[in-house]
Amino acid sequence: DWTMENFVDSQIASIREKVGDKKVLLALSGGVDSSVVGVLIHRAIGDQLTCIFVDHGLLRKDEGTQVMETLYGDFHMNIIKVDAQERFLSKLKGVSDPEQKRKIIGNEFIYVFDDEATKLNGVEFLAQGTLYTDVIESGTATAQTIKSHHNVGGLPEDMQFELIEPLNTLFKDEVRALGIELGMPEKLVWRQPFPGPGLGIRVLGEVTEDKLEIVRESDAILREEIAKAGLDREIWQYFTALPNVLSVGVMGDERTYDHTIVVRAVTSIDGMTGDWARIPYEVLEVISQRIVNEVAHVNRVAYDITSKPPATIEWE
Ligand code: XMP
Repeated sequence: DWTMENFVDSQIASIREKVGDKKVLLALSGGVDSSVVGVLIHRAIGDQLTCIFVDHGLLRKDEGTQVMETLYGDFHMNIIKVDAQERFLSKLKGVSDPEQKRKIIGNEFIYVFDDEATKLNGVEFLAQGTLYTDVIESGTATAQTIKSHHNVGGLPEDMQFELIEPLNTLFKDEVRALGIELGMPEKLVWRQPFPGPGLGIRVLGEVTEDKLEIVRESDAILREEIAKAGLDREIWQYFTALPNVLSVGVMGDERTYDHTIVVRAVTSIDGMTGDWARIPYEVLEVISQRIVNEVAHVNRVAYDITSKPPATIEWE
């Protein structure tokens, strides 16, 4: 019988058998998938697993802290956290093409990871949180030319690791169920899908710290209000994007000329197709008021009412 409990038992047995007394390395992205893989492998082999958590400065508000508190604090996993914010920002300076930004972030991630990995001795395995849908999407030429997903196939060429990908037969909802089965907190497991390039593709065009701050703060408000309205499990993915458009507004007696924030929210099963979420007007109203009042340099909020296709979920 296929049950989650049996799945955990059989995965743990096969990870133990495969790894023996060798060491495994895992890149934590801050997302759900790599966190769940980490906890699963940690349960199988304990301290033979070393995680490298690269904070590229493109994470959501409080995300890095949350991941560390759970995985390091509660689960006592072996984690090396690398604060690489400046390194990523300087590489992104002056770059505005989305695919080039993805490439830079993906490559830089590998360089930083590589730097840390070479300091460790005797690692023979590399674990990845590859899902079934990642395998499908990256396997087809169309998906790759639409957007290069850097979860798969982005390994440094000179690294001689054997791969461990225990989630590659699972869909997202099964990964969440697995996380719960492993005793992970709902707050972590029920986070939305989050792209590898993070907020780097939600600031449209050139990425700067100031613009990241606007997206991070507005996104935190959106998430808070969606949760308050009890919609956080109904809507598959929701976030804010900064289109880099300035428009005229008025605040008090002052004319303003400031940024627009776009709210994007979609319902979906697997992210391949999606519909824009029908968030109630009253909830949208609070979101809009709060973002304009609380986030500096935003004077306008727009709501994206396009489905996928023809639009993609992300704006870049
Ligand atoms: P799109 O925008 O292509 O997004 O409709 C579909 C899903 O994939 C996520 N996404 C990415 N994930 N690296 C990732 O790991 C990427 O470069 C990337 N681009 C989009 C997106 O957040 C959505 O869940």
